[in-house]
Amino acid sequence: MSEDTIARARLGTDGPLVGVQGLGCMGMSEFYGHTDESAARETLEAALDAGVTLFDTADMYGRGANEEFLAPFLGAHRDRITIATKFAIARGEDDQFRGVRNDPAYIRQAVEGSLRRLKTEVIDLYYMHRRDPAVPLAESVGAMAELVRRGLVRQLGLSEVTGAELREAHAVHPIAALQSEWSLFSRDVERSAVGAAAELGVAFVPYSPLGRGFLTGSFRAGAVSDGDFRADLPRFSGANAETNEALLEPVRRIAKAHGATLAQVALAWVQQRAEVHGLVAVVPIPGTRKPERLRENVAATRLTLSPAELALLEPIAGQVAGERYPDMSSTSAARE
Ligand SMILES: NC(=O)c1ccc[n+]([C@@H]2O[C@H](COP(=O)([O-])OP(=O)(O)OC[C@H]3O[C@@H](n4cnc5c(N)ncnc54)[C@H](OP(=O)(O)O)[C@@H]3O)[C@@H](O)[C@H]2O)c1
Repeated sequence: MSEDTIARARLGTDGPLVGVQGLGCMGMSEFYGHTDESAARETLEAALDAGVTLFDTADMYGRGANEEFLAPFLGAHRDRITIATKFAIARGEDDQFRGVRNDPAYIRQAVEGSLRRLKTEVIDLYYMHRRDPAVPLAESVGAMAELVRRGLVRQLGLSEVTGAELREAHAVHPIAALQSEWSLFSRDVERSAVGAAAELGVAFVPYSPLGRGFLTGSFRAGAVSDGDFRADLPRFSGANAETNEALLEPVRRIAKAHGATLAQVALAWVQQRAEVHGLVAVVPIPGTRKPERLRENVAATRLTLSPAELALLEPIAGQVAGERYPDMSSTSAARE
């Protein structure tokens, strides 16, 4: 496959044009169990080859290890890659989570760390990963805007903010992208964030568009391996997992009708949200560490579901058992 085989979309009004599907790199360093490093590197190259140009990381993934892992790939293809990273989830030397930090001093320090680990002079898209409501948003976004003026960052993004917060931030400095969880299983963003993004011309970057793998049908209730953080997620455990597995039935049926996989149907559904909600761009960032899955996921950009199929999928989210996180306090849903 050559480059330019997938459509492109613009992040924000004057942001970069990126492949309409990005790649989530988090699982390459943490959270989803053992990673075969050489397969993960092959996946990065396969992504670029398939027209994927937006690569997503964060300073907290592997406590910096994910940014370091990406550095050689980024260095080899710097002009073809849009690199997105994030600050705000503070971790100590012992890997323990130390809460959310949005204060300007922390932001100025965090960006230096990300630039150093990524071995780059500029971050294309810099997100606030979580909101600390104790810090005025204008102060945090003001500090982020200062990074743009200093040439350290090109575009700004936010993650897990409400519609009202997105509007408030956008008035301080244009926000190119909103990254929040959005999938057939997780639709709370439709309450306010999606409408605000559509109104402001902010691109939506759905994270965990495969429901952290659940929507691919490759999980069996209770079969999450040790050391995999999904063992702690309400949707993956016990009776919830069984309930949620049964919800995949229409996804399976639609996949069969198209000769597609469940993952492809889940991704096509997310992509089609752009039209449904009048968003300027929707660029999901499914995560995978395997080149064959990467190619499978990218092929979903060419799949279109009919109105009847979309209607069949409509009731799923309302029936999902279990929250997105064990502790929902730092999500946008908690502040709506
Ligand atoms: N802003 C935030 O707060 C936030 C939170 C979470 C994630 N993110 C970002 O969003 C990205 C994606 O989210 P995610 O990784 O949590 O969840 P996801 O994309 O919904 O699912 C990833 C899981 O699905 C599996 N998978 C991927 N493609 C598959 C396929 N075709 N068939 C079967 N299984 C497949 C992956 O396994 P393999 O890797 O083994 O293929 C992995 O276990 C992350 O990498 C990260 O960059 C952001």
